[in-house]
Amino acid sequence: MIVTIDGPAGSGKSSTARAVAQRLGFRHLDSGAFYRALTYAALQAGIAEERWESLDSAALDALRVQARPGAEGWRMFAGDNDISEPIRSPQVNARVSHMARVPAVRGWLMGRLRAAAADGDLVTDGRDMGSVVFPDARLKVYLVADPRERARRRLAEHGHLAPGEAELAAEVARLLERDRIDSERAAAPLVQPADAVVIDTTGLSFEEQVARVVELAQRRR
Ligand code: CDP
Repeated sequence: MIVTIDGPAGSGKSSTARAVAQRLGFRHLDSGAFYRALTYAALQAGIAEERWESLDSAALDALRVQARPGAEGWRMFAGDNDISEPIRSPQVNARVSHMARVPAVRGWLMGRLRAAAADGDLVTDGRDMGSVVFPDARLKVYLVADPRERARRRLAEHGHLAPGEAELAAEVARLLERDRIDSERAAAPLVQPADAVVIDTTGLSFEEQVARVVELAQRRR
């Protein structure tokens, strides 16, 4: 059984997907982590952003991006370097959508994501998991939340628990810019699949949003 969770930046997909997977005993696959890892690895390898459009599968293979199981879920690697923390940095946030809009990058990753689903039940999250990568998923969830709430959560994740108005507004602008690029791109844009269950998490606690998805999944199982 495949459960997909898609939605805009900072809507809580990955943390929800991880918790839902744990509760159901499914595996979790965070597709955004791969786009982030490719972005970070390309920057580290000195591949300028102007050249990302022309990356082919050999060049992508050469970045040696890989997910390996760790004590608390997957860790992302480039070669032997654990890059799980830096892929969440503001530097990567600002550039990842430029990597993710390259069709060759999406094609390269699609095969890997589908192969990961071959060995059993899965909860997976991203932008196009229900619309393109797993169109036949048993349950598709689309998570949305008010931009200010998404910005507040994203800043809290990075330790800013009481952001000022200016800081909050700047984070809202960054999230909306990423949503714009993700929604307007030609290849597998962010869309709400017609058969998805939409959950607005603005007023929900984390526990509540996890419980809703778990309940939906149990009903469809
Ligand atoms: O956690 P957050 O929602 O901020 O982002 P993410 O899920 O880690 O994804 C980071 C970026 O990767 C997105 O802004 C998209 O540009 C890209 N992405 C994508 O294009 N397709 C996916 N299935 C997942 C992520």
